[in-house]
Amino acid sequence: MNGKVVVITGGTSGIGQVAAEALAAQGARVVLVARDKARGEATLKRLKPGQAHSLYIADLASIGATRALAAQIAAAEPRIDVLINNAGALFNSRRLSPDGLELTFALNHMAYFVLTEGLLDRLKATPGARVVSTASRAHQGSRLDFEDLQAAKSYSGFEVYGRSKLANILFTRELARRLAGSGVVANCLHPGFVATRFGDQSGGMLQRLMPLAKLMAVTPKAGADTIIHLASSPEVESQTGLYFYKRMPVAPSAEAQDDAAAARLWAESERLAAQAG
Ligand SMILES: NC(=O)c1ccc[n+]([C@@H]2O[C@H](COP(=O)([O-])OP(=O)(O)OC[C@H]3O[C@@H](n4cnc5c(N)ncnc54)[C@H](OP(=O)(O)O)[C@@H]3O)[C@@H](O)[C@H]2O)c1
Repeated sequence: MNGKVVVITGGTSGIGQVAAEALAAQGARVVLVARDKARGEATLKRLKPGQAHSLYIADLASIGATRALAAQIAAAEPRIDVLINNAGALFNSRRLSPDGLELTFALNHMAYFVLTEGLLDRLKATPGARVVSTASRAHQGSRLDFEDLQAAKSYSGFEVYGRSKLANILFTRELARRLAGSGVVANCLHPGFVATRFGDQSGGMLQRLMPLAKLMAVTPKAGADTIIHLASSPEVESQTGLYFYKRMPVAPSAEAQDDAAAARLWAESERLAAQAG
């Protein structure tokens, strides 16, 4: 990864932090996105020095902040070899983002969409560029309800989280389709069930059960492995539009292979992003 630039969200904790450290250790220069300056600076200190890593602060639940972030990074970075969309969360009760969107949808899906769109020119200008998005097996059993994407009619933290992870896979499919022939590849992954800080701030029963559930989870190092593989391995340089688990492409649910839903989600995301100003 010597000489390569990796932009990563959610790099201040869990699997994102392990991936940022590993890619820096391989020689990449890391552009770290954090919502909290102190946590961002603490992670920067863990990265192998010598490559002028940089830190940007943004609340990725805000479309305006994510768009401004993308513009700042694009202005500073003539090349972007890898964009890793990874920040995400699950919320036990329904909350709204600064734009009035349901918070899980805003953070887990819209941030991936807006940041990728904002960095697309830089990715296209970089030979062999890659977009890697962290999805989840939690998408299994989910279906997008285009009449209620903001879960205003009914809310369950698990269900809404599952739909946001389905959105990550549909986003990757449509992105890969749109990028065909551009030289940029886009893939997503399930990291496994991983003992990170995930769920610790969800609230409710989930937050109380998490410490027990995590006894069965794999380590952040194991969870980050497929992210690192997709970001850096020559083996996957020409694979695109796929969903990986343990370094292998696997079939996601039938709903996650629905190209009409992928195109509709893209159009709806564009509309919501434009509406946010
Ligand atoms: N853990 C699992 O079992 C599992 C399974 C499948 C998929 N995933 C996915 O893996 C990804 C990473 O999760 P993780 O397990 O590593 O969890 P984690 O330890 O909770 O890390 C989440 C990361 O997202 C950042 N983040 C949260 N809200 C943000 C916001 N509004 N703006 C900017 N950054 C924000 C966090 O920042 P702070 O450091 O400031 O909190 C942190 O860096 C997520 O997309 C999750 O859905 C996890």
